[in-house]
Amino acid sequence: MLTININGSEKQVDVPGDTHLLWVVREHLGLTGTKFSCGIGACGACTVQIDGKAMRSCITPVSAVTNGQKITTIEGLSTDNDHPLQRAWIEAQVPQCGYCQSGQIMHAAGLLNENPKPSKAQIVEHMSANLCRCGTYMRIAKAVEIASESDTKD
Ligand code: FES
Ligand code: FES
Repeated sequence: MLTININGSEKQVDVPGDTHLLWVVREHLGLTGTKFSCGIGACGACTVQIDGKAMRSCITPVSAVTNGQKITTIEGLSTDNDHPLQRAWIEAQVPQCGYCQSGQIMHAAGLLNENPKPSKAQIVEHMSANLCRCGTYMRIAKAVEIASESDTKD
């Protein structure tokens, strides 16, 4: 039995330590906002935060996060879907199919944790690591810019 800290709560999961965090999150904890796509760390659909840094859960063994690291999924990003990025995503009407979007928001949140006021170029460079088959890149960049200009970051 392994203990992980996720979205502010400790959870016990009965899985081998080499199980990827994505499957623990989705299959064992029922947090299906985090998506599976490439499975090889190449697309970012599975992005969560570990101690505030954006990480790819499809290639992260759960054994790497059993020492009290704070895991945050899209479900735990805010209490009422009111994170500045979530509000900005709505304002900019970012999603098309939506599949990549929770990973995009979690990746963007990692950027704003490290650099609350990124330049447009820094936003575009950072977000280029996450793929969107629908090509919503320009709206993603706009939304991150809107969020970075917001006064409330919690
Ligand atoms: S599903 Fe994890 S990076 Fe693509
Ligand atoms: S909105 Fe469809 S893959 Fe990004």
